[in-house]
Amino acid sequence: MTKDKVLIFDTTLRDGEQSPGATMSHAEKLEIAELLDDMGVDIIEAGFPIASEGDFRAVSEIAQRARTATICGLARANYKDIDRCWEAVKHAKSPRIHTFIGTSPLHRAIPNLTMDEMAERIHDTVTHARNLCDNVQWSPMDATRTEQDYLCRTVEIAIKAGATTINVPDTVGYTAPRESADLIRMLINKVPGADNVIFATHCHNDLGMATANSLAAVEGGARQIECTINGLGERAGNTALEEVVMALKVRGDIMPFETRIDTTKIMNISRRVATVSGFAVQFNKAIVGKNAFAHESGIHQDGMLKNAETFEIMRPEDVGLAGTSLPLGKHSGRAALRAKLAELGFDLADNQLLDVFVRFKDLADRKKEVYDDDLIALVHQNDAAEDRLKLKSLRVVCGTEGPQTADMVMEVDGSDVKTSATGDGPVDAAFNAVKSIFPHGAHLQLYQVSAVTEGTDAQATVSVRMEEEGRIATGQSADTDTVVASTKAYINALNRLLVRRAQSQPGYDTKGVSYKDTE
Ligand code: KIV
Ligand code: ZN
Repeated sequence: MTKDKVLIFDTTLRDGEQSPGATMSHAEKLEIAELLDDMGVDIIEAGFPIASEGDFRAVSEIAQRARTATICGLARANYKDIDRCWEAVKHAKSPRIHTFIGTSPLHRAIPNLTMDEMAERIHDTVTHARNLCDNVQWSPMDATRTEQDYLCRTVEIAIKAGATTINVPDTVGYTAPRESADLIRMLINKVPGADNVIFATHCHNDLGMATANSLAAVEGGARQIECTINGLGERAGNTALEEVVMALKVRGDIMPFETRIDTTKIMNISRRVATVSGFAVQFNKAIVGKNAFAHESGIHQDGMLKNAETFEIMRPEDVGLAGTSLPLGKHSGRAALRAKLAELGFDLADNQLLDVFVRFKDLADRKKEVYDDDLIALVHQNDAAEDRLKLKSLRVVCGTEGPQTADMVMEVDGSDVKTSATGDGPVDAAFNAVKSIFPHGAHLQLYQVSAVTEGTDAQATVSVRMEEEGRIATGQSADTDTVVASTKAYINALNRLLVRRAQSQPGYDTKGVSYKDTE
């Protein structure tokens, strides 16, 4: 059976990053883009160039570095946005401009355009984009709540004006699978010129149907799925890349479509996106959750030992989960570490390997067995040289006889500052110490601790989310000492918040203008 190709359009760096708190640093965006390119994503939506200088710089650098993927930027339906977008993507081997406007009654009311005025705007802006770039994607935002006649009319205009991909967004996660398939089928059947373009589906997960709706759209004729790693995205998120890709792979018998994705790279990028975005993956999340391949109940274990297919529809290796391998210990050398990291998908330069080796030795002194997940946490530890705040030392007194006290030395802009603070528990005392050294008005929105592996000597990974005047930043860290991990995560979030503070310019919010604004 020949399989039709389905293009994978990843918008982790645009729609995903737009999720409050998921903001990534410039270096992190470049790294994620490289991983996406490596895993075979066809189109990377790298950002929204007009939104901020940072977005522009990220999109343009990603465009210049991309090897295989088409690099796309988002633009609202106006010339200024489109020009800026083109400036950012034009150096890519394969650039794309993605322009959109909200076509549903509720969205039309925002710029206060009549149907005719909006139709004219679509014609003019898509024509303008196409004069700059051969590859133009057009989206009628909130398509699933747009009157169907009007939707057909606008899609026809966009195709005539030169759009090469028509994306049909379910912006608010409202549609259901049958409707999703019917909508694409209706557009393909009714709109003149539909045969000459690719139809794309872009679903949000508000009702938990994003994956089902995307797959149904493919059955209806869509040949591009828009998605994000781990389903990252505003509110309940976007369609999860790993879910649609694995569904097409595992159920090729009833869905004869193929993607270019190297599925063995899924776990690595999933972990990386979770770390840099601060959005941990829920344990029972399909494909990439910690429990997705764990078979704990007695009956399952017995069945699994006899034949893995009893309860497994895909193999852990298919998504890049290494089979159980022996842990490293304090006698393991650099060569063993390098070999193990290579097995886990990390190809580190010599200086990076040396950094990880130093951290590994430190951990192995405190923890007898260092497992794969410990190593992954070590690789992803992120003390950046440019951080303004660094934890130098911490000693905490806690227990049943209060007060809990934290003695701390922290480096602030290159100088060591010492303090002692008390609190309601050791973590509170440590956070108060940070605050007394570096006073700030940020509010702690989230503090989450989980164990990397099992056992009482397991490393704790801590995620912290902080908010200051609408700016949100997340921080992570891992350590066998939960209080140290918590303090480092808190300081990591503060460092990111300081970058955000510096980046925000008058007239812009932290992410620049919102894509929902209109001129
Ligand atoms: O959800 C949506 O409608 C979008 C558009 C900008 C494509 O993200
Ligand atoms: Zn979206």
